[in-house]
Amino acid sequence: MCLVVFPFKKENPQVVLNNVKIAAQHPRVEEVLCVGVEKEETYRGLEQNIPSLKMDTNKEINLILQERIGDKRPGKGDGMNTALKYFLEETDSNNILFFDSDIVTFGPHWITKAIEGADMGYPVVRHYFPRASTDAMITWMITKTGFALLWPASELPWIEQPLGGELLFNRSVVEKLVQEKDVMNRSDWGIDTMYTFYTVKYGYPMLETYISEGKLHKLYGKLSDLRTMLVECFDTIKSLKDTSLALSAKSPDTEHLSVCNGGIVHRAEHPHEVPAEVFEKIGFDIEGSLTLLVENWTPRMEELLDLFPRRVRDGLLSNRTSPSFSFMDEHTWRETYYVLLEHFDSGDEDWQELIFKLWTSRVLCYTTTIALRGYFFAMRYLYSMIDRYMSHSARQIIKKIKGTDRK
Ligand code: LAC
Repeated sequence: MCLVVFPFKKENPQVVLNNVKIAAQHPRVEEVLCVGVEKEETYRGLEQNIPSLKMDTNKEINLILQERIGDKRPGKGDGMNTALKYFLEETDSNNILFFDSDIVTFGPHWITKAIEGADMGYPVVRHYFPRASTDAMITWMITKTGFALLWPASELPWIEQPLGGELLFNRSVVEKLVQEKDVMNRSDWGIDTMYTFYTVKYGYPMLETYISEGKLHKLYGKLSDLRTMLVECFDTIKSLKDTSLALSAKSPDTEHLSVCNGGIVHRAEHPHEVPAEVFEKIGFDIEGSLTLLVENWTPRMEELLDLFPRRVRDGLLSNRTSPSFSFMDEHTWRETYYVLLEHFDSGDEDWQELIFKLWTSRVLCYTTTIALRGYFFAMRYLYSMIDRYMSHSARQIIKKIKGTDRK
């Protein structure tokens, strides 16, 4: 039996209630848990309606507030980690399933597909969705890029949507996750990256199932809507950069395999169908995002740019007068990323604004040179960009190891 969890913040209570109802009616679901951040309108809306929903479905439905568990900004991570603890302490269900609470396309098959994966023996099941070519810009430019540069021979860069919030873990996965300090401390948007990283590090077989109707969330506005998430997701990757995935002992001949993870089983369902609206959707407000490059400059940000290659520094600095982003191609972004891994400080406001501007220029460069050539072109490009990052970084790592050996 399963526990289904909906972490929520401020959502339309009717949408959340509808999803809770669908979950509670599912024959394999034993209990539904809603985890809120504070007692605001959404929480109260759920509180009022849950008693009748319990009567109708004859299932356990609970509503709790998230605990303060981590040491980062209190956000989604505290909510999900609260649910992991609840699952172990308050239930004897075999599996925990997470779903974002604001999905308007949610249906019983979302649950069935995850449980079918667990029934086949996968301790980790993740859902993935078709997304517009200009959506998922943190996923592609931060998370998948970071995975490819830091652990190029592992499964990590191959995971379709490493930031996805639709997950199933069995009990043994949860028992390990709650003991991991990195995971429990990550109370912010970095939680998805932590779950992804550690489930791969532990070597759990993983299935990714494909939900073709997607999540249909609303368009982001300007890229600044994603600023906090960007900073927290990058900070998480940076915090993991010296964590090895290696399972086996090192020897000079095999040390380069420490970029590998010992070969976990990872299967992804074929993405059989992409709805028309995904082709046509623009992921964010392009015009509104242009001004973000020009505003909020400080003298210290200009100094920090001295740490970067000249092309990056000069390219970004020209934004002090008018928007400029075509310098931030794939190769320039890779060099930028390495400098950020070395020097970025998430607690420093100038660094936050700088990474935001660097990423914004990368997203705008990609949008105007690649995404405008159409959905299929853009998707082919994004996957092959990650391939190129993987092979470049694997070559560098191997060269470094072999070079050191000869000394
Ligand atoms: C991502 C966020 C933007 O996946 O949804 O990149």
